[in-house]
Parts: sequence; structure tokens; C-alpha cells
Amino acid sequence: MTRPIEIAPSVLPADFARLGDGIAALAAAGTDRIQWDIMDGQFVPNITVGPDTVASCRSYTSLPFEAHLMIYRPETLAKEFIAAGCTRLIVHAEACTHLHRTLGVIRELGATAGVALNPATPISAVEHVLDLVDLILVMTVNPGFGGQQYIATMEPKIRQMAALLEATGRRDDIDLEIDGGVSSKTIAGAAAAGANVFVAGSALFKHAAGLRAATSELRSIAEAHR
Ligand code: DX5
Repeated sequence: MTRPIEIAPSVLPADFARLGDGIAALAAAGTDRIQWDIMDGQFVPNITVGPDTVASCRSYTSLPFEAHLMIYRPETLAKEFIAAGCTRLIVHAEACTHLHRTLGVIRELGATAGVALNPATPISAVEHVLDLVDLILVMTVNPGFGGQQYIATMEPKIRQMAALLEATGRRDDIDLEIDGGVSSKTIAGAAAAGANVFVAGSALFKHAAGLRAATSELRSIAEAHR
């Protein structure tokens, strides 16, 4: 069973003065889950929102929430983001002193766990924790901001990650997600390389024909090239 193609909008480009309405619009546009970009101004040079903001938007959709924790020591806020309504927490391998332990803490709290890898981080960083995750996120930008250029040299890394999942028999249990610069021009290459979940911000919010058209355009290109 191959993992389904999913479009996971990033909330980053939404109007932060009307986040609930933005979330509802993303859900109405046919997206599959909502990704919250959580930034601490230390691990990445930007600051966004915390668990209280996520909690205030929980009632606007029944779509799953996942938190992309671009923060140091993510285990210190895991409980709060799960209480806010996130069912999956994605931590950065580079931000965890004890990644194996942090993933265990997230699972003990009842959420599923994912690991994100910055562009320079090799996939070997996750080879000993595949039993603890249901998602690997290969960043296709350096994290911190939306609207950046897709780093196409990450496609061999996506391919490598897909091959590792295949070789370890985990291909059917683990989502391979990418985030950064996903658009109608870049999603085909990432899908062909083996990604099945696509985080998009600008490509959705800036699309001339609106969120629904943008979502179905991305989905059909990914389906056609996987
Ligand atoms: C980077 C962020 C962005 C965001 C998507 O830290 O994680 O990748 O989600 O931004 P776009 O789709 O505009 O590149």
C-alpha cells in the first residue's frame, strides 16, 4: 500500500489577525491536514505562535493538526502542543540533544512523532529512530520563512530517504514529507523522488485562482508524477 498523497498547508502565510477563518478556508479548500510552523527565534531566525494560538483555532476544523517545531528542546512544550490539539509533533534532529528520548516522550504523551532534517543534515541522522516515527520531513528550504526558493538538490536526498524506508520495510508506515518552496513547478520532482506529503504556504495563498484550485492543482501534479 503506497502512502497517499497529502497536501498539508502551512499556516505561515495566513492572516494572523484572522487565523481561525484562514484555517477554515484551508479545510474547505480540500487540504488534508494543517501544519503549524512553530518558531522560537533561536533555532530559526523568526518567531511565530505558541500552543495557546493553536488551541484557539482547534474548533475551526476537524482536520488533523501537526506542529512543525522549529524550536530548541521541543520536549519542553510537547505536552502543551498536544493539549492544544496537535496529534503529530515534528521535531528537528538538529534541535534535540537526545532525539531518541524526545520521540519517546512524544509517543508516551499519545501523539505521533516526526523528524525534520535541514538541508545539510544527512538521512543517517534518523536511521536509528525509524521505529519511533510515522513521518520524516526533508526540508527543501532552510527553515524560518515562507516564500523561499525550493532547493532542488534535495531531490537525491528525498530519493535516498525513500530507499532507506524501502530497505527497512517502513515505506508503508512512514510518511515522507517535504516543506519549502513547494509549487506547481517543483512538486513533480519531489513526488517523483518519493515524497508523498507536501507542505505548501505561498503556492496556496498566492494562487490567482484561490485555495481550492491551488490544492487540487498540486495534488494532481503529485499524483501524476509519483
Ligand atoms: C520554513 C517554513 C516554510 C513554510 C512553507 O521554515 O516551514 O517552508 O512552511 O513556505 P512556502 O510554501 O511559502 O515555501
